[in-house]
Amino acid sequence: MTKILAVVSQKGGVGKTTTSVNLAASIAALEMRTLLIVIDPQCGVSSSFNFTSR
Ligand SMILES: Nc1ncnc2c1ncn2[C@@H]1O[C@H](COP(=O)(O)OP(=O)(O)O)[C@@H](O)[C@H]1O
Ligand SMILES: [Mg+2]
Repeated sequence: MTKILAVVSQKGGVGKTTTSVNLAASIAALEMRTLLIVIDPQCGVSSSFNFTSR
């Protein structure tokens, strides 16, 4: 069964990125197919996974 979780707040610095990355990593560690989508121009999640923009 597919589940969709959303981590949303207009306020910055409240832990959205940290929560999202660790939640996704924890679910993936349970060997469940996991898709993490981030709509954030700061690209904090990309750097969490060591992706860099060119
Ligand atoms: N549960 C927590 N306890 C303590 N510090 C936290 C926690 N969650 C996030 N932080 C810290 O708070 C700061 C902002 O978190 P971040 O996830 O970047 O927020 P956002 O994505 O909402 O801007 C970071 O320095 C992060 O390490
Ligand atoms: Mg963020």
